Amino acid sequence: MDEEYDVIVLGTGLKECILSGLLSVDGLKVLHMDRNDYYGGESASLNLIQLWKRFRGADAPPASLGSSRDYNVDMIPKFMMANGVLVRVLIHTDVTKYLSFKAVDGGFVYNKQKVHKVPATDMEALKSPLMGIFEKRRARKFFIYVQDYNESDPKTHEGLDLTRVTTKELIAKYGLDDNTIDFIGHALALHRDDRYLNEPAIDTVKRMKLYAESLARFQGGSPYIYPLYGLGELPQAFARLSAVYGGTYMLNKPECKVEFDGEGKVVGVTSEGETAKCKKVVCDPSYLPGKVRKVGKVARAIAIMSHPIPNTNDSHSVQVILPQKQLGRKSDMYLFCCSYSHNVAPKGKFIAFVSTEAETDNPQVELKPGIDLLGPVDEIFFENYDRYEPVNEPSLDNCFISASYDATTHFESTVTDVLNMYTMITGKNLDLSVDLSAASAAEEY
Ligand SMILES: *[C@@H]1O[C@H](CO)[C@@H](O)[C@H](O)[C@H]1NC(C)=O
Ligand SMILES: *[C@@H]1O[C@H](CO)[C@@H](O)[C@H](O)[C@H]1NC(C)=O
Repeated sequence: MDEEYDVIVLGTGLKECILSGLLSVDGLKVLHMDRNDYYGGESASLNLIQLWKRFRGADAPPASLGSSRDYNVDMIPKFMMANGVLVRVLIHTDVTKYLSFKAVDGGFVYNKQKVHKVPATDMEALKSPLMGIFEKRRARKFFIYVQDYNESDPKTHEGLDLTRVTTKELIAKYGLDDNTIDFIGHALALHRDDRYLNEPAIDTVKRMKLYAESLARFQGGSPYIYPLYGLGELPQAFARLSAVYGGTYMLNKPECKVEFDGEGKVVGVTSEGETAKCKKVVCDPSYLPGKVRKVGKVARAIAIMSHPIPNTNDSHSVQVILPQKQLGRKSDMYLFCCSYSHNVAPKGKFIAFVSTEAETDNPQVELKPGIDLLGPVDEIFFENYDRYEPVNEPSLDNCFISASYDATTHFESTVTDVLNMYTMITGKNLDLSVDLSAASAAEEY
């Protein structure tokens, strides 16, 4: 292997595959390796036998659950916002031609011990049982302000500079109560903690607009879409994209040792005694354990069920967000459910996830409020995994390490990490000004 690569990517997780696709399209010479003999790394999708091997040791799955190959259980389940950045990346790179998407049935929020549809527009605010009659009117006015807000048209700003005014101040102007602020911040704007309240309101307003605009693209009840056969399709679609642009893929490469010169700059990667030279390395935290630190732990449960999540309007695919305050916690909890309607389980079966950032030494107990919402389950598995973040200085060592996947069941934080990495690697921003309306006409979803 005498030739030098611009970039060697290690690990075929979602983030790494998106990056190798984007970098190949940019004309960089990319080699992509994985120590496993399958795509996806931590974000692989498993069939029933693989799921049993991972969580139950040698036992065979019960025949009552149906055929193993009808299952595609994402290890990192996430929905995509229909107008979100990831969908823009998919359209920008034309990866949509390798995938089929279907709208997600429901977006719900847990409030005062009950599950409610997330109201995203002024009309929905008026109908929502989440608020009393006077609060509904105040919320409606706020939703109209957000819907009409146009960054480049000061007439819509009502005299407020949202790059200076905090979210707390903006919400105070409309007199909304804490309960309303809680579902707006966590279930609509998808903030993961309450820091946004003291940050400029422009970010929250843009996130609310994204939710409402994504919702408007379908007749359905959620702003999300999800690929048929699960997210496992995504790394492979980006791998195909990379290959079209000259990228080389090698699975089942043991060791993948990153090599450095005397100044600590990366020079290549060695596997099976052969070193491939490169200028930069992109990888997940497991390939450079000396350059990352543990920042937290995700706790989760995976359930196989024979019914949809109760109180979600019979949604065959759904996200339920349980805001931290509703549970007396510091971090939100997420429910994700998908089924045979997205071809991830046999007819009549549902796959549900409950996940959160662990805050105690007994994460399984922490998940209880989420698990209680599922109703009876056929099978349930528990798992924790550590989260890592890079601590290296990429400008010194040319190593670009992704952060571990967080507990969220949507893509917003994942894709932000990918785009930041892209900018660090290439020194430029990805131009994502694609015409979504033209694109959607040409697609299935
Ligand atoms: C936002 O305002 C600008 C400037 O007035 C205008 O050109 C643009 O069409 C507006 N966008 C929307 C979505 O109304
Ligand atoms: C429940 O789902 C049906 C379609 O399946 C939809 O027409 C209706 O608006 C939904 N109701 C709520 C409250 O989301």
